[in-house]
Amino acid sequence: MSTTSNGDHIADEIRAAWTHGAEDYDLDAGHGLLTPGVEDAWISVLAAALGEGPKDVLDVGAGTGFLSIPAAKAGHRVTATDITPAMLERGRERAAHAGVDITFVEADAMDLPFPDDSFDAVISRHVLWTMTDPRRAFSEWARVTRTGGDVIWFDGLAKPGSPVNRARNLLSRAAKLVTRPEDHAHAHHYDEELVEHLPFRGLQSTQPIRDLLAELGATDVSCRAVPRLQHAEESVMDLHKRLAAGSIRYIGRFEVTPTVKATIATSRASAK
Ligand SMILES: C[S@@+](CC[C@H](N)C(=O)[O-])C[C@H]1O[C@@H](n2cnc3c(N)ncnc32)[C@H](O)[C@@H]1O
Repeated sequence: MSTTSNGDHIADEIRAAWTHGAEDYDLDAGHGLLTPGVEDAWISVLAAALGEGPKDVLDVGAGTGFLSIPAAKAGHRVTATDITPAMLERGRERAAHAGVDITFVEADAMDLPFPDDSFDAVISRHVLWTMTDPRRAFSEWARVTRTGGDVIWFDGLAKPGSPVNRARNLLSRAAKLVTRPEDHAHAHHYDEELVEHLPFRGLQSTQPIRDLLAELGATDVSCRAVPRLQHAEESVMDLHKRLAAGSIRYIGRFEVTPTVKATIATSRASAK
């Protein structure tokens, strides 16, 4: 199954970037669960976010199953979707290795092939910034979530370009020249033209996200930093990444209320 909302060159470029990066993806600190400590941190944060199970959980932009596998280990019934077949293929291998049962479906996060009200929760990690149309993405995630369920996302906020952060980034570049680490994250690099199509890339504040969600009827939005994840990930990073200003890891969520359902149904009807 394959559907794309932006079936133009942008979707193709995004898929090509992640196809390139699929093989090495899990080797990069911040991508793969590189140590038991990092995995434990994620399992406990995710378990707390999802609450008591088992629930029907959809992981959008699931990649190689970073969230799907811990969610399935916690007993939830997980469907993992992604636009890039190569990432899903790695996810299938990792799920088999972990001994968990996950349904993998190739799909565009902005045009999901599921009926309304199919899941108790939609989760994602490091996906919101890759969306060319975040409004459409959130609308789809809320559409397939049952009323009373939650849309939960993990992402990063860029730190401001203060003198301290600029100095840290210079130091980081110098350290990289000296230590010459393997660059596993380079393969899925987006070029500048593509980046211009991603409204939520490089955000320093969650306000634009809150503003967008308010338009969709979601006013009770929670976004909070997760120092436990930040520390766990930094503990396995190469020196130059630890020196860089980096980003602030946070978890965002909103409940799919009757108001959200009514708002997205109205805007879908008027778009027809
Ligand atoms: C940074 S990776 C995150 C993967 C995984 N969630 C994780 O935490 O490791 C971004 C993923 O989003 C996927 N992606 C990008 N645009 C997408 C879209 N429109 N629909 C579905 N997946 C998309 C990419 O293929 C890639 O696997």
